Amino acid sequence: MLDQLQALQATALDEVRAAVDVAALDVVQSAFLGKKGQVQQVLRTIGKLDPKERGPVGRAANEAKQAIEAALEARKAELLAAADANLAETEWVDATLPPPAGSRASGRGGSIHPITALVRDMEDVFLSMGFETLDGPWVEDDHHNFGALNIPPDHPARDMQDTYWLTDGNLLRTHTSPVQVRAMETRKPPIRAVCLGRIFRNEELDATHENTFHQCEGFFVDRDVSVGHMIYVLESLLHEIIGPDVKVRLRPSYFPFVEPGFEMDVTFRGDWMELLGCGMVHPYVLEAGGIDPNEYSGFAFGMGIDRLVMVRHGVEDIRHLMSGDLRFMSQFTGGLEG
Ligand code: PHE
Repeated sequence: MLDQLQALQATALDEVRAAVDVAALDVVQSAFLGKKGQVQQVLRTIGKLDPKERGPVGRAANEAKQAIEAALEARKAELLAAADANLAETEWVDATLPPPAGSRASGRGGSIHPITALVRDMEDVFLSMGFETLDGPWVEDDHHNFGALNIPPDHPARDMQDTYWLTDGNLLRTHTSPVQVRAMETRKPPIRAVCLGRIFRNEELDATHENTFHQCEGFFVDRDVSVGHMIYVLESLLHEIIGPDVKVRLRPSYFPFVEPGFEMDVTFRGDWMELLGCGMVHPYVLEAGGIDPNEYSGFAFGMGIDRLVMVRHGVEDIRHLMSGDLRFMSQFTGGLEG
């Protein structure tokens, strides 16, 4: 009986060593240690043995059991460590594979936000006209958002109603115009740049007012830049974005950072629609940016992006745009890029 146990233990240890994965180990475990396993079968016969033999056989059976258990544990740890080491080979995914056909149409895939889609379209047009795209911080200081843009301390744009002031005296930018100043500070003319980004105003919310929206700022500073250049650039942009038949007109208007200043209207559904502010960069603003107004001139314009998105897609409430509501977003799966 003791020989039989020894042979059984030796076979079990061989099989443990030969197991190539955790599933194979489980098979070995139940074959030897399970309820109907071989060690159990030996233990069950102990009662029939001569009383003198029972003690040594029982002890030997328990030792065999412990030896097999220890071997199983050790081999299991070994196999798991090996599997971990091979993870890079066994668990890799090809991140460059296209998504399964139909996944977007079925709504399971993501979609490009209509604001992002328009921003990309506009950036493409600007890039084709030789403009570069710039970014600026959302948290601005008083100087870049107001002071350097010739907005005096008592200007209504600084009113507590409009501006989100932070406790440290900084603010959330209320327009993209500070990017003009930052560009002038760090570059030399010619500067041809646009900034399409998020802006913030402390608005009373309704269907046409959000506190977080988007603007497209553009500016061109060089020698002899004129209003004619500005009209050409804006007309080219609007032809691409709205359509080739769109007509534009300029009305005199006032912004502290341009002189002269205008508003541009476009034809929309048989009527004029107010679209953007623009003008020739004010000499004070050029100076604040470190550019000599006697040598250089420039134009600048700023327009709301959300409004254009609403017109483009017939969205009736601006608050849908930043709501993050998938029921709203799922309408725009058609506007996806390939
Ligand atoms: N910054 C202005 C606004 O927020 C828009 C503007 C930009 C007007 C550049 C003129 C020139 O309304």
